[in-house]
Amino acid sequence: MQQIPRDKALDSTLALLLDGYLFIPKRCQRYQSDIFQARLLFQPSICMTGQEAAKLFYDTERFERKDANPEPLKKTLLGEGSVQGLDGDAHRRRKQMFMSLMTRESIQQLAALTTEQWHAYSKKWETMDKVVLLYEVREILCRAVCQWTGVPLEEGEVKQRTNELAALFEGGGSAGLRHLRGRIARQQTEKWIEDIIENVRSQALEVAEGSPVHAIAWHRDLNEELLNKRTAAIELINLLRPTVAIGQFVVFSALALHDYPDCQQTLQQGDDKDIERFVQEVRRFYPFFPLIAARVRQDFDWNGYHFPKKTRVFLDLYGTNHDARLWENPNEFQPERFRDWDGSPFNFIPQGGGDYQVGHRCAGEWITIELMKASVKFLTQSIQYDVPEQDLRISLSRIPAIPNSRFVIRNVRRTD
Ligand code: HEM
Repeated sequence: MQQIPRDKALDSTLALLLDGYLFIPKRCQRYQSDIFQARLLFQPSICMTGQEAAKLFYDTERFERKDANPEPLKKTLLGEGSVQGLDGDAHRRRKQMFMSLMTRESIQQLAALTTEQWHAYSKKWETMDKVVLLYEVREILCRAVCQWTGVPLEEGEVKQRTNELAALFEGGGSAGLRHLRGRIARQQTEKWIEDIIENVRSQALEVAEGSPVHAIAWHRDLNEELLNKRTAAIELINLLRPTVAIGQFVVFSALALHDYPDCQQTLQQGDDKDIERFVQEVRRFYPFFPLIAARVRQDFDWNGYHFPKKTRVFLDLYGTNHDARLWENPNEFQPERFRDWDGSPFNFIPQGGGDYQVGHRCAGEWITIELMKASVKFLTQSIQYDVPEQDLRISLSRIPAIPNSRFVIRNVRRTD
């Protein structure tokens, strides 16, 4: 057996917070290895990067998700008892509920609701001196996803609910005040959505059959029992929160249009395929989800390395999307590269990899792509705007990453 290279520090948790997206890539470079061990969150852990590592990580015979996600993530981003922590048949049954919502028709409906909101907001922007795109787009997405799922949202609560949902993913990768806000927001959103689940079940709130809120409220797990109301709320939040999070990718799209004006030109005249390649490159190029965690199910050996049972293993998503063995000039923004992409579920993994039904790959990947496409189409074909001087730098230590200025636009003009 070979020894897995070991990170020198006694505990590397602080380094993880400081290095952010570059924590695994930096050390893999340092140790000239796709794999290293480190003490993280006070436990011996293994970190891995690249396509071969992704194939291994998504082998459900070798890895499980029970107790894999760190407590601070459960208290903010994920909630307790969500699909992310299930394994085997229990996972498959719950995941099936999510995937049954992801029909082409249903996703198109959500994209149409989003575009409707873009139009309404752009009317308002015409009268504003300055628009901070990130915060506006989050509201657009929050309104659209509430309507799509069947969650009632009063005009007066749009800002509050949008901010709470955003605080869940803002708090996930941080320590300190931002993390604390995430914990408070977790309690608030769960209370809000638990009441809705209760009202659906008591029929105080009538919702369309087949709507996401209906599907979750009446979903039965393997034991044929309804989910308890907290778990049902957590799963409904699993649709609302990440849809609001697409705002990060929309801002990165706007930034790419600004930084690479040739793309802007292509997309103004371009077809659906051009927009799709652009969106894929935004998902590959810009930082969002840095890494994911699983635990070793049973002792096994791989490539001469030993993986002891229960060890927490982290897979590097950001680094794999920038791996020079997989992507030519990985640090250049080139949508055209997606003309030749082989479609592997293990080399392009901004939202996880592997299989949707059997594994934990993001249930909302198609939604993400479609809502980004609708948003890019709107930005390039339905409005014009100025991008004033501002601080557009992105810190790779901040999770989730975002341009410092949150992307400010001015002088918005509607063109259709
Ligand atoms: C905003 C962009 C998004 C990113 C970067 C993202 C990223 C991810 C990642 C990295 C995972 C974990 C994969 C794994 O553990 O192997 C995941 C899982 C998941 N995502 Fe997303 N996601 C996004 C949008 C969405 C949307 C829009 C939805 C739903 C509307 C969604 C619902 C889920 C669910 C339910 C899971 C759990 C799947 C499982 O455990 O089987 N995500 N996502």
